[in-house]
Amino acid sequence: MGMRLLVLGGGGREHALVWKLAQSPAVDDLFCAPGNPGTATLATNVPLNTADPVEVRVWAEENAIDLVVVGPEDPLAAGVGDELRRAGLLCLGPDKGAARIESSKVWAKNLLADNGIPTGAFEVFDDSHSAIDYLAQIEYPAVVKADGLALGKGVVVAREFAEAEAAVEGMMTDRVFGAAGNTILVEECLFGQELSAFAITDGKNHLMLPFARDFKRVGDGDVGPNTGGMGCYSPVALQDDALRQEIEEVVMQPTLQALAASGNPYVGFLYAGLMITADGPQVIEFNCRLGDPETQAIMPLLNGDLADAALLAAQGRLTEAHLDIAASSATCVVLASGGYPGGYDTGCPISGVADVGEDALVFQAGTALNGEELVTNGGRVLAVVGLGDDVSASRAAAYANLEMVDFDGAQHRGDIAAHDPAILEA
Ligand code: AMP
Ligand code: GLY
Repeated sequence: MGMRLLVLGGGGREHALVWKLAQSPAVDDLFCAPGNPGTATLATNVPLNTADPVEVRVWAEENAIDLVVVGPEDPLAAGVGDELRRAGLLCLGPDKGAARIESSKVWAKNLLADNGIPTGAFEVFDDSHSAIDYLAQIEYPAVVKADGLALGKGVVVAREFAEAEAAVEGMMTDRVFGAAGNTILVEECLFGQELSAFAITDGKNHLMLPFARDFKRVGDGDVGPNTGGMGCYSPVALQDDALRQEIEEVVMQPTLQALAASGNPYVGFLYAGLMITADGPQVIEFNCRLGDPETQAIMPLLNGDLADAALLAAQGRLTEAHLDIAASSATCVVLASGGYPGGYDTGCPISGVADVGEDALVFQAGTALNGEELVTNGGRVLAVVGLGDDVSASRAAAYANLEMVDFDGAQHRGDIAAHDPAILEA
């Protein structure tokens, strides 16, 4: 009997996960909650409240689900993993305790520091006066972070005291992130090249997925406000075997050991945001999930059966899994609504999604169906992923195919992957 699989989430990351999982001969029935019009072409969408662990568990039991794969962090921070495992169901995604690696930056930094895993120096504050006293004495730039989940917006890289002070007042006095800012961190600013590293793990063993670089600012040349991510590419030039091995040895493996030793064994996808500094890789942050839009570029590069690997990881048997990484490249360009990450219109008809060539894929995020018509329904509307033998080819494919897709007010970055050394040298 084949597998019945439920994916939680409804963004571009989940469309890409569903696309890859649907290719598995082991999967008979694929469900996505809540999903989007893109996942609906490959799976059955289910209108569940994924932040409610009991609702998810009851539905999974009633529908004989063999494995739940969790896309975003919120269900995990709410305890979906705990609830499913307590009922004897398999879940790829950590318990609430282990998900603190993302949901509490203080908890994550202490875990790193206590276990000698490389990360920048930091101080923790739970009142604004001592934070500001401290900020008046240190060197700049420095980084101010809210402890809790703040939709990727709780980080300020301050160039001077006034900026740091304003960040603390916003987080602690004006409480712009609510309880997420009750505690804050002040971190040493790291310098180097940023790299996102991903692994799938059963708590003991892990397999590395391709590295990626994402582009967080809205505008070309990394200007303007931060977004959820305007594009990415994978793999990156920095990624050679020696660096991969170093990252596994000094970051991934010791982090998984430290999590297990702290009584929080970690089953799921682990995302390490790294700075490759002159002294080697340092951890900027962890996420308890895959990246969005990194997943959209990584999934097309995986050879092998992801559903089988996911099941084996959830069963603690990842050593039996086979996942190879293709020697090709993917460039992902996000098409966003005009105005994003500020206010934007929704309901604009989207044209051309079915017209992209064989060298590209379209993964939907903020879309909806209005009758038969596909319309915009979010900030990041969709991603066009170009595929090629190398980064110049995948980048060219992404931008050529992006021309086919359009809606009123659509905006995208023109410089995704443009600064990869392989392109600059060509
Ligand atoms: P985060 O939300 O933790 O991913 O942080 C957002 C961005 O802020 C990161 O991608 C980095 O570019 C930057 N950042 C965060 N922490 C540091 C740090 N300690 N040093 C330098 N840059 C940082
Ligand atoms: N693209 C960044 C993230 O998923 O956190």
